[in-house]
Amino acid sequence: MAKNTKKNEGYLSSREIREISRKNRKITGELEKKWKRKHVPESEYLTQMKNPENAVEFEDLHTWFFTDAGTVKSVDGVTFDVPIGKTIGVVGESGCGKSVTSLSLMQLLQRPQGQIVSGHIRLNLGDKAIEISNTPREQMQKIRGNVVSMIFQEPMTSLNPVFRIGDQVDEVIALHNGEGKTKEQIKEETIKALEMVGIANSQGVYRMFPHELSGGMRQRVMIAMALACHPKVIIADEPTTALDVTIQAQILDLLRDLKDRINSSIMLITHDLGVIAEMADYVVVMYAGKIVEKGTAEDIFYHPTHPYTIGLMASKPVVGRQTDELYSIPGKVPNPVNMPDYCYFRDRCEKRLPCCDGEYPCEFSLSDTHKVSCYRCDPKYMNEAGKPDQAPDGEGGR
Ligand SMILES: Nc1ncnc2c1ncn2[C@@H]1O[C@H](COP(=O)(O)OP(=O)(O)O)[C@@H](O)[C@H]1O
Ligand SMILES: [Mg+2]
Repeated sequence: MAKNTKKNEGYLSSREIREISRKNRKITGELEKKWKRKHVPESEYLTQMKNPENAVEFEDLHTWFFTDAGTVKSVDGVTFDVPIGKTIGVVGESGCGKSVTSLSLMQLLQRPQGQIVSGHIRLNLGDKAIEISNTPREQMQKIRGNVVSMIFQEPMTSLNPVFRIGDQVDEVIALHNGEGKTKEQIKEETIKALEMVGIANSQGVYRMFPHELSGGMRQRVMIAMALACHPKVIIADEPTTALDVTIQAQILDLLRDLKDRINSSIMLITHDLGVIAEMADYVVVMYAGKIVEKGTAEDIFYHPTHPYTIGLMASKPVVGRQTDELYSIPGKVPNPVNMPDYCYFRDRCEKRLPCCDGEYPCEFSLSDTHKVSCYRCDPKYMNEAGKPDQAPDGEGGR
């Protein structure tokens, strides 16, 4: 049937697929060896925080998936800090690597395909710090839920439909924090956790099944489960996407309030800039597995500089401003298996310069906190006023 092999872009022959799988097995087999070791000494995963005021430090993190279609570089050189007691907002279009960044921190990647191939994730435990990419599985089980915990996007699919709410929250407390406690004591803690997230009829809800609750209530239960053990870092992956707007506001208020009460940090992942504006102290903007801009919330909201951030801002509806059509960024994210060697945003960028055909731009500092990966911020191409808006003579934007 297939004597003449098609050479369409994106088409792989079965031979090519076999070849890729063989290479993948070799690479992942090598990387998996580390996870199969037993009794790894603590010295191998202890580390030092660069700044002890950070709860988490991501440094040049590369998380790749070795799939049959090729290597997907989901997270490709991401560096940012989550300071203690602060909220970090991670924004970007869907598919840009936000969830994979947080799953790397939880060591919940789909292995063996998904692997942290290089870089560091340092987690501050108070008296010591650990390197997540070297931490063995048994140790990680003690950290998940206790130190870092995650609120998932879809409360209906994350709660088990055949168990009562009480049993599910009890299980979390018993597993992570239940040593020496009786069943009654655990139940008491569950009721307290349910009350803490604003569920008035906590005794009744304790005996209910997930389908008997509304979406907002279910998300509250998820938050109660995530916060039951007072984690130091809370990852909230699109916590309000499945909820309607009024409930969204309540859940965000609740998160903010609880964060202050237990003094933890939040890594808030969302594609909704409105949510970020309301909650975040610092913002990280991701595009195709890389950070294109990061800074304080003021930096990003009042001085957005990367054309992608500017595009995201422009595509946000503003109350009181009338427009016929909302702005949308033209084009689409490049194929993750075959990333270009120039700036990943170049082909969608309305402000590109001739120099943008060169290699991927490095990070330029606009201030101590505000960093942008765009040639428009390269001092070489800035105009005399220092505004990253115009190219020098002869290099006008196309
Ligand atoms: N298990 C997986 N296998 C292969 N590719 C994956 C897997 N999980 C995520 N990816 C890829 O990683 C990229 C980033 O995904 P993700 O972090 O989930 O995006 P988002 O920013 O929407 O949360 C996407 O291109 C996605 O296709
Ligand atoms: Mg996601």
